[in-house]
Amino acid sequence: MAEFLTRKANIDDVKAMHSLLLESARKGMLLPRALIYLYGHIRNFFVAETPEGEIVGCCALAPVWEDLGEICSLVVREELRNRGVGGDLVRACIEECAQLRLRRIFALTYQESFFRDLGFVMVDKDVLPQKIWADCVNCAKYPDCDEIAMFLDLGKGKVEGPRHD
Ligand SMILES: CC(C)(COP(=O)(O)OP(=O)(O)OC[C@H]1O[C@@H](n2cnc3c(N)ncnc32)[C@H](O)[C@@H]1OP(=O)(O)O)[C@@H](O)C(=O)NCCC(=O)NCCS
Repeated sequence: MAEFLTRKANIDDVKAMHSLLLESARKGMLLPRALIYLYGHIRNFFVAETPEGEIVGCCALAPVWEDLGEICSLVVREELRNRGVGGDLVRACIEECAQLRLRRIFALTYQESFFRDLGFVMVDKDVLPQKIWADCVNCAKYPDCDEIAMFLDLGKGKVEGPRHD
């Protein structure tokens, strides 16, 4: 049996997702998400769980524009990192892109090498104007945000990313 299962999230997962995201947000790694946001956007989320059903990670694929999606709210419990859980969560989001007809995805992040390993390339944030209009201008960090934009064009072939099994 696999060590961790990646699956679509449901309402019962929200409180565990909220506390994982809050812990990482307190360290400045990502934006915190309110419970009401998580309940309302639950369809965007995947979670990773142990065989006992404990939630150890989550990640969202959020449609942004006609063919553009964002990978966001990605977190894995600190002591379980570097075992492939985060990579599996992002790959699950990438697989869902075909169903949603999303051809380009991006993440605003500090995790350059993690996303590079999954086939993303660094781009200037100016190539994501819809994200800037919709969210960034309302963020406390704007315009001095030090996150980088990592971008993946799914039209350029199938993305596997490194597997360690
Ligand atoms: C970013 C994050 C989600 C990655 O989760 P993770 O479970 O550690 O991800 P993975 O294990 O798939 O990959 C992490 C690294 O371990 C490596 N790795 C994965 N499985 C491995 C294995 N079995 N053996 C050795 N190395 C392994 C990956 O190649 C990757 O290396 P790199 O980052 O140096 O390129 C996690 O670090 C995290 O929660 N960070 C805080 C929140 C955050 O920054 N979120 C991103 C916001 S966009």
